[in-house]
Amino acid sequence: MELQAQQQEVIQKTVDFLKQKFEKEPSGHEWWHLYRVWQNAKHIGKSYPQANMYIVQLAALLHDIADWKFSGDFYASSKAAAEWLRPLNVSEEVISEIGVIIDNVSFKGAAEAKMKVSIEGQIVQDADRLDALGAIGISRALTYGGYKQIPLYVPDKKPKLNMSMAEYKNHTDGSTINHFYEKLLLLKDLLHTDAARSIAEARHKYMQGFLDQFFKEWEGKA
Ligand code: ADP
Ligand code: NI
Repeated sequence: MELQAQQQEVIQKTVDFLKQKFEKEPSGHEWWHLYRVWQNAKHIGKSYPQANMYIVQLAALLHDIADWKFSGDFYASSKAAAEWLRPLNVSEEVISEIGVIIDNVSFKGAAEAKMKVSIEGQIVQDADRLDALGAIGISRALTYGGYKQIPLYVPDKKPKLNMSMAEYKNHTDGSTINHFYEKLLLLKDLLHTDAARSIAEARHKYMQGFLDQFFKEWEGKA
Protein backbone atom coordinates (compact mmCIF):
# COMPACT_ATOMS: atom_id res chain seq x y z
CA MET A 1 0.00 0.00 0.00
CA GLU A 2 1.38 3.38 -1.09
CA LEU A 3 1.11 6.05 1.57
CA GLN A 4 -0.14 9.51 0.59
CA ALA A 5 2.18 12.51 0.90
CA GLN A 6 0.11 13.86 3.79
CA GLN A 7 0.40 10.52 5.63
CA GLN A 8 4.18 10.48 5.09
CA GLU A 9 4.29 13.94 6.59
CA VAL A 10 2.44 12.83 9.73
CA ILE A 11 4.89 9.93 10.09
CA GLN A 12 7.89 12.23 9.62
CA LYS A 13 6.58 14.71 12.21
CA THR A 14 6.01 11.83 14.62
CA VAL A 15 9.57 10.57 14.07
CA ASP A 16 11.02 14.04 14.75
CA PHE A 17 8.88 14.42 17.89
CA LEU A 18 9.81 11.00 19.32
CA LYS A 19 13.53 11.36 18.54
CA GLN A 20 13.57 14.42 20.71
CA LYS A 21 11.21 13.21 23.44
CA PHE A 22 12.85 9.80 23.90
CA GLU A 23 16.48 10.68 23.33
CA LYS A 24 17.41 9.69 26.89
CA GLU A 25 14.73 7.28 28.12
CA PRO A 26 16.46 4.93 30.61
CA SER A 27 14.11 1.91 30.85
CA GLY A 28 14.47 0.41 27.36
CA HIS A 29 12.03 2.64 25.47
CA GLU A 30 14.46 5.17 24.09
CA TRP A 31 14.11 6.45 20.51
CA TRP A 32 16.19 3.58 19.07
CA HIS A 33 13.77 0.98 20.49
CA LEU A 34 10.94 2.81 18.71
CA TYR A 35 13.06 3.00 15.56
CA ARG A 36 13.77 -0.76 15.60
CA VAL A 37 10.13 -1.65 16.25
CA TRP A 38 9.15 0.63 13.35
CA GLN A 39 11.67 -1.13 11.05
CA ASN A 40 10.51 -4.58 12.24
CA ALA A 41 6.89 -3.60 11.61
CA LYS A 42 7.60 -2.39 8.08
CA HIS A 43 9.46 -5.62 7.36
CA ILE A 44 6.71 -7.89 8.73
CA GLY A 45 4.07 -5.77 6.96
CA LYS A 46 5.52 -6.68 3.55
CA SER A 47 4.02 -10.15 3.98
CA TYR A 48 0.53 -8.73 4.71
CA PRO A 49 -0.65 -6.57 1.78
CA GLN A 50 -4.09 -6.27 3.40
CA ALA A 51 -2.65 -4.41 6.41
CA ASN A 52 -3.05 -0.65 6.66
CA MET A 53 0.60 0.36 6.92
CA TYR A 54 -0.20 3.94 7.85
CA ILE A 55 -1.83 2.67 11.05
CA VAL A 56 0.91 0.07 11.56
CA GLN A 57 3.71 2.62 11.26
CA LEU A 58 2.12 5.19 13.56
CA ALA A 59 1.19 2.58 16.17
CA ALA A 60 4.72 1.09 16.05
CA LEU A 61 6.28 4.51 16.54
CA LEU A 62 3.90 5.58 19.32
CA HIS A 63 3.45 2.24 21.14
CA ASP A 64 5.60 3.15 24.17
CA ILE A 65 4.73 6.82 24.44
CA ALA A 66 3.68 6.19 28.06
CA ASP A 67 4.52 3.06 30.06
CA TRP A 68 1.62 1.37 31.93
CA LYS A 69 4.13 -0.27 34.32
CA PHE A 70 5.28 3.14 35.56
CA SER A 71 2.25 5.40 35.12
CA GLY A 72 -0.22 2.89 36.57
CA ASP A 73 -2.74 3.92 33.89
CA PHE A 74 -3.44 1.12 31.40
CA TYR A 75 -4.67 3.66 28.81
CA ALA A 76 -1.86 6.20 29.27
CA SER A 77 -0.24 5.45 25.90
CA SER A 78 -3.40 5.67 23.80
CA LYS A 79 -4.36 8.94 25.49
CA ALA A 80 -0.93 10.43 24.89
CA ALA A 81 -0.92 9.19 21.27
CA ALA A 82 -4.34 10.79 20.63
CA GLU A 83 -3.13 14.09 22.08
CA TRP A 84 -0.20 14.02 19.69
CA LEU A 85 -2.13 12.95 16.58
CA ARG A 86 -5.26 15.10 16.91
CA PRO A 87 -3.55 18.46 16.16
CA LEU A 88 -2.00 16.82 13.07
CA ASN A 89 -5.54 16.35 11.70
CA VAL A 90 -5.41 12.57 11.82
CA SER A 91 -8.97 11.25 11.67
CA GLU A 92 -10.71 10.07 14.85
CA GLU A 93 -11.17 6.65 13.26
CA VAL A 94 -7.43 6.21 12.69
CA ILE A 95 -6.64 7.59 16.17
CA SER A 96 -9.01 5.10 17.73
CA GLU A 97 -7.55 2.13 15.81
CA ILE A 98 -4.03 3.15 16.83
CA GLY A 99 -5.23 3.52 20.43
CA VAL A 100 -6.59 -0.01 20.58
CA ILE A 101 -3.33 -1.38 19.17
CA ILE A 102 -1.05 0.40 21.59
CA ASP A 103 -3.19 -0.38 24.63
CA ASN A 104 -2.79 -4.08 23.84
CA VAL A 105 0.76 -4.25 22.53
CA SER A 106 2.74 -4.61 25.71
CA PHE A 107 3.61 -7.90 27.42
CA LYS A 108 1.75 -7.95 30.75
CA GLY A 109 2.65 -11.33 32.17
CA ALA A 110 2.56 -14.75 30.55
CA ALA A 111 -1.02 -15.43 31.71
CA GLU A 112 -2.38 -12.40 29.83
CA ALA A 113 -0.82 -13.19 26.48
CA LYS A 114 -2.55 -14.01 23.17
CA MET A 115 -5.43 -11.57 23.07
CA LYS A 116 -7.42 -11.25 19.87
CA VAL A 117 -6.05 -8.38 17.79
CA SER A 118 -6.39 -6.93 14.27
CA ILE A 119 -3.74 -7.74 11.64
CA GLU A 120 -2.26 -4.26 12.20
CA GLY A 121 -2.13 -4.98 15.96
CA GLN A 122 -0.54 -8.36 15.36
CA ILE A 123 2.21 -6.80 13.25
CA VAL A 124 2.99 -4.11 15.85
CA GLN A 125 2.92 -6.56 18.74
CA ASP A 126 5.25 -8.97 16.93
CA ALA A 127 7.55 -6.10 15.94
CA ASP A 128 7.82 -5.02 19.59
CA ARG A 129 8.39 -8.56 20.80
CA LEU A 130 11.19 -9.15 18.30
CA ASP A 131 13.05 -6.26 19.92
CA ALA A 132 13.03 -8.16 23.24
CA LEU A 133 14.83 -11.12 21.61
CA GLY A 134 18.34 -11.93 20.41
CA ALA A 135 21.44 -9.82 21.00
CA ILE A 136 19.33 -6.70 21.41
CA GLY A 137 16.93 -8.46 23.76
CA ILE A 138 19.83 -9.58 25.97
CA SER A 139 21.29 -6.06 25.96
CA ARG A 140 17.93 -4.49 26.84
CA ALA A 141 17.30 -6.93 29.69
CA LEU A 142 20.72 -6.20 31.20
CA THR A 143 20.20 -2.46 30.78
CA TYR A 144 16.75 -2.62 32.41
CA GLY A 145 18.11 -4.73 35.27
CA GLY A 146 20.85 -2.17 35.93
CA TYR A 147 18.40 0.71 35.77
CA LYS A 148 16.00 -0.95 38.24
CA GLN A 149 18.83 -2.39 40.36
CA ILE A 150 17.61 -5.94 39.85
CA PRO A 151 20.26 -8.57 40.74
CA LEU A 152 21.83 -10.22 37.71
CA TYR A 153 21.32 -13.79 38.93
CA VAL A 154 20.41 -15.38 42.27
CA PRO A 155 20.70 -19.19 41.99
CA ASP A 156 18.13 -20.03 44.69
CA LYS A 157 15.44 -17.69 43.29
CA LYS A 158 13.46 -19.71 40.79
CA PRO A 159 11.59 -18.03 37.88
CA LYS A 160 7.85 -17.43 38.43
CA LEU A 161 6.06 -18.84 35.44
CA ASN A 162 2.60 -17.87 34.17
CA MET A 163 2.26 -14.62 36.13
CA SER A 164 -0.92 -12.54 35.97
CA MET A 165 -0.76 -8.87 35.02
CA ALA A 166 -0.73 -7.72 38.67
CA GLU A 167 1.95 -10.24 39.65
CA TYR A 168 4.12 -9.33 36.65
CA LYS A 169 3.85 -5.62 37.41
CA ASN A 170 4.74 -6.02 41.09
CA HIS A 171 7.41 -8.65 40.61
CA THR A 172 10.57 -7.03 41.92
CA ASP A 173 12.36 -9.74 43.87
CA GLY A 174 13.58 -11.77 40.90
CA SER A 175 16.70 -11.50 38.78
CA THR A 176 17.53 -10.43 35.28
CA ILE A 177 18.35 -14.02 34.33
CA ASN A 178 14.90 -15.09 35.61
CA HIS A 179 13.36 -12.54 33.23
CA PHE A 180 14.54 -14.73 30.34
CA TYR A 181 12.35 -17.58 31.66
CA GLU A 182 9.46 -15.33 32.73
CA LYS A 183 9.19 -13.49 29.43
CA LEU A 184 11.91 -13.61 26.78
CA LEU A 185 11.97 -17.35 26.08
CA LEU A 186 8.15 -17.43 25.97
CA LEU A 187 7.80 -14.80 23.27
CA LYS A 188 8.65 -17.04 20.28
CA ASP A 189 5.45 -19.06 20.82
CA LEU A 190 3.29 -15.98 21.36
CA LEU A 191 3.96 -14.38 17.99
CA HIS A 192 1.09 -13.98 15.54
CA THR A 193 2.82 -13.74 12.16
CA ASP A 194 4.97 -16.24 10.27
CA ALA A 195 7.23 -13.39 9.15
CA ALA A 196 8.11 -12.60 12.78
CA ARG A 197 8.33 -16.27 13.77
CA SER A 198 11.05 -16.94 11.22
CA ILE A 199 13.16 -14.06 12.60
CA ALA A 200 12.44 -15.07 16.20
CA GLU A 201 13.74 -18.60 15.67
CA ALA A 202 17.38 -17.51 15.32
CA ARG A 203 17.11 -14.87 18.05
CA HIS A 204 15.65 -17.45 20.44
CA LYS A 205 18.54 -19.88 19.82
CA TYR A 206 21.01 -17.06 20.34
CA MET A 207 19.55 -16.33 23.80
CA GLN A 208 19.60 -20.02 24.73
CA GLY A 209 23.27 -20.14 23.73
CA PHE A 210 23.91 -17.09 25.90
CA LEU A 211 22.21 -18.72 28.90
CA ASP A 212 24.08 -22.04 28.42
CA GLN A 213 27.38 -20.21 28.38
CA PHE A 214 26.33 -17.98 31.32
CA PHE A 215 25.57 -20.97 33.59
CA LYS A 216 28.82 -22.72 32.62
CA GLU A 217 30.84 -19.61 33.41
CA TRP A 218 28.92 -19.20 36.70
CA GLU A 219 30.31 -22.57 37.86
CA GLY A 220 33.76 -22.01 36.37
CA LYS A 221 33.12 -24.66 33.75
CA ALA A 222 33.81 -22.70 30.58
P1 ADP B 1 8.38 -3.72 25.65
O1 ADP B 1 8.99 -2.55 24.97
O2 ADP B 1 8.64 -4.99 24.93
O3 ADP B 1 6.93 -3.54 26.03
P2 ADP B 1 8.97 -3.71 28.51
O4 ADP B 1 8.41 -2.38 28.81
O5 ADP B 1 8.27 -4.89 29.11
O6 ADP B 1 9.18 -3.94 26.96
O7 ADP B 1 10.49 -3.74 28.94
C1 ADP B 1 11.50 -3.00 28.29
C2 ADP B 1 12.74 -3.87 28.15
O8 ADP B 1 13.22 -4.22 29.44
C3 ADP B 1 12.49 -5.18 27.42
O9 ADP B 1 13.57 -5.54 26.63
C4 ADP B 1 12.28 -6.17 28.55
O10 ADP B 1 12.60 -7.49 28.21
C5 ADP B 1 13.19 -5.62 29.62
N1 ADP B 1 12.65 -5.93 30.94
C6 ADP B 1 11.39 -5.73 31.40
N2 ADP B 1 11.24 -6.20 32.66
C7 ADP B 1 12.44 -6.73 33.00
C8 ADP B 1 12.96 -7.38 34.17
N3 ADP B 1 12.21 -7.59 35.24
N4 ADP B 1 14.26 -7.78 34.14
C9 ADP B 1 15.05 -7.56 33.06
N5 ADP B 1 14.63 -6.96 31.93
C10 ADP B 1 13.35 -6.55 31.90
NI1 NI C 1 8.16 -1.51 23.15
